[in-house]
Amino acid sequence: MEKIIVANLKMNLTFDEIKKYKNEIEKQEMRNFILAPSTLYLSYLKSDKYELCSQNGYYVDSGAFTGETSFKQLKDIVNYSLIGHSERRNNFNESYEIVSKKIDSCIENKIIPILCVGENEIEKKDNLQYDKVSKEIISALKNKKIDKIIIAYEPIWAMGTGNIPKYEDIENMCNYIKNIVKKYTKNYKIIYGGSVNSKNIIDICKVNGIDGVLIGGASNDPKNIIDMYNTVKKYVK
Ligand code: 13P
Repeated sequence: MEKIIVANLKMNLTFDEIKKYKNEIEKQEMRNFILAPSTLYLSYLKSDKYELCSQNGYYVDSGAFTGETSFKQLKDIVNYSLIGHSERRNNFNESYEIVSKKIDSCIENKIIPILCVGENEIEKKDNLQYDKVSKEIISALKNKKIDKIIIAYEPIWAMGTGNIPKYEDIENMCNYIKNIVKKYTKNYKIIYGGSVNSKNIIDICKVNGIDGVLIGGASNDPKNIIDMYNTVKKYVK
């Protein structure tokens, strides 16, 4: 099965840089490539060469919520949305309850959620990674009719550090996630995020059960992301 590559540009790139980015990635067909830029650039980046993902969204459809963009507004532009990214949970106090409401709104608006889960450094030290991940998934999905979902396992301690878990630990977590998520839907994928780069992307994509990757920092340069994309297409079947 072909791997999925999601590029989370976070709060990076100016409009000039985005224009160059679009120009580069539109030079080839980017099947199963999902781009998550700042909300500001989503309309501009609409393309038939790749798919779009929002980095966030608000769960109320419309109203007096200055500064927010609802999933209802996003649905004509994106197919996916990141939900519960650790940067939102930690920097913007996104609670389990808010994450759950966002999943509801995605379902309602037919946006495929990319639910981000993963343990921090302390939880890892205390061997609580499985408890954390199950809590994050169950609280987000319980009592819901999920059509399709992507779970992104992103250990917080690995993000932006250059460190990644042992491949067997990724595989074990992947199996663990699979056993939880399959109770909610048969239509799921599991991807890995956290310091994915051109050196480790192949090995990560070859881990049993991993359907793709979520890339942060290494996706900011369009040439780099195209290289990683082409390498995966070539070496991982
Ligand atoms: P890095 O790839 O920069 O570690 O970021 C991972 C991430 O947060 C993707 O959502």
